[in-house]
Amino acid sequence: MKIYHLSAECYPIAKVGGLADVVGALPKYQNRLGCEAYVVMPWYDRPFIKDHKFENVFDGTVVLKNLQFKFKVLKEKKNSLGFALYLIKIDGLTDRPNVYGYEDAALQYIGFQTIALYWIRESKELPDLVHCHDHHTGLVPFLMNYSSEFEKLRGIPTVTTIHNGQYQGQMGWEMVNYLPNFNLTDGGLLDWDDCINPMAAAVKCANAFTTVSEGYLKELMDDKGAGLEDLYRQESQKAHGIVNGIDTEVWNPETDKYLIENYTSANFVTKKRANKKELCERYKLNEGLPLISFIGRFAAEKGADLLPGIIERAIMERSGDVNFLVLGSGDPAVEQKLWDIHHRFIGNFGLETGYNEPLSHIIYAGSDYLLMPSRVEPCGLNQMYSMRYGTVPIVRKTGGLNDTVPDIDEKDGRGIQFNDADENGAVWAIHKALDFENDTKNSRKLRRSIMKIDFSWEKSAQKYLALYENLKQQR
Ligand code: ADP
Ligand code: GLC
Repeated sequence: MKIYHLSAECYPIAKVGGLADVVGALPKYQNRLGCEAYVVMPWYDRPFIKDHKFENVFDGTVVLKNLQFKFKVLKEKKNSLGFALYLIKIDGLTDRPNVYGYEDAALQYIGFQTIALYWIRESKELPDLVHCHDHHTGLVPFLMNYSSEFEKLRGIPTVTTIHNGQYQGQMGWEMVNYLPNFNLTDGGLLDWDDCINPMAAAVKCANAFTTVSEGYLKELMDDKGAGLEDLYRQESQKAHGIVNGIDTEVWNPETDKYLIENYTSANFVTKKRANKKELCERYKLNEGLPLISFIGRFAAEKGADLLPGIIERAIMERSGDVNFLVLGSGDPAVEQKLWDIHHRFIGNFGLETGYNEPLSHIIYAGSDYLLMPSRVEPCGLNQMYSMRYGTVPIVRKTGGLNDTVPDIDEKDGRGIQFNDADENGAVWAIHKALDFENDTKNSRKLRRSIMKIDFSWEKSAQKYLALYENLKQQR
């Protein structure tokens, strides 16, 4: 089965968060199941692209309303990622270093989606299915079914995966003339609250939509849909919750090239500590104390604004007998508050702002606990990486965190859960974790068991495949 994944991010080419990890892994696992899975994404001015060879497979000029852009579709020559990778380079729209944050983002995505479909339309063998990820590719199911320019693609099934429903890519209706032609009587399919809403359009027009955990699907219909709750409920007959896996080849403590020492569930006690030692030396922390870390975007969804208060209270309430380490970037106000706390608690709190892939691996390996005080977490990959590295997650009971980290007081517990997305909830859980840490026998036993859990993509890749087959048969 020939599947095209369309996405704004893909690891290791361009990663901002978990979307990249998923799109960089799922197609590889699908190919192993006998599919032909491709990734199509925008070209960015990124090191991976400079370091790899590409060939031009398609080019031309696209006209978006009164603007003209030259474009190329480039294929990575060696398929070095385990799938064929295609980049869409639009002069003046994608030849930039960052993935997000440009004022003309709406135009970037319209251009990307339109050109992707021009190119797919011309392929010798059309795909069996197009799989779109998040709002950046949300117009595709509509365009394939309703634009007169893509009649050739009518009826090819489409799946949309919602990785993050908070971002919907809304744009004013004045943007409509930048879209490929369609009959205006179909325009309602693009609309939500008097805007063009690509996420809503995707949910309305795709043959199926999926969320990255079952728990998040319920939450989207309930109160976490950022205004689309009614729509998710209306379309629920085509909804599927499929939890993410992780790339166990990239995230493997036995082989991870970024680690100071590699280890397995059989020898983690001493070797995991070598990674902790490195972190403690770098951030002037006491290696003898439990280390609780946070990795992620400083965004409200992640509860990052709660971190300064949580860290301060936990250090004070434990009389300095706990250390924290934070790696992240985002909201400047949160960064500033964290630096203030850092200056007050030197020796107990290390802080690294910015994006640092190698360091993140050492933190997953070298920490004792990983804190995730998320308000919303569609799936969350950090907790799975941390478990694979023998680091116990402390998570707020929400979305994918609730699905993947049962509390240690439950059957087959894996970590520590707390209910309330506030300082009290998280500090309560930290106390529970630190008390548990004193029980060396059981905390080691837990670490050994969470390292052995199978989080690989195989099971979920099978579920996607079953869904694709089903849609293909309904065609
Ligand atoms: P989200 O996609 O919402 O940010 P996920 O838990 O799905 O959350 O994935 C986050 C991914 O981004 C993980 O691979 C995590 O290690 C990585 N990450 C987040 N922030 C940073 C950072 N500052 N440096 C390195 N990696 C980071
Ligand atoms: C989003 C979500 C995150 C999820 C990731 C990959 O960025 O915020 O929870 O793990 O996508 O699906």
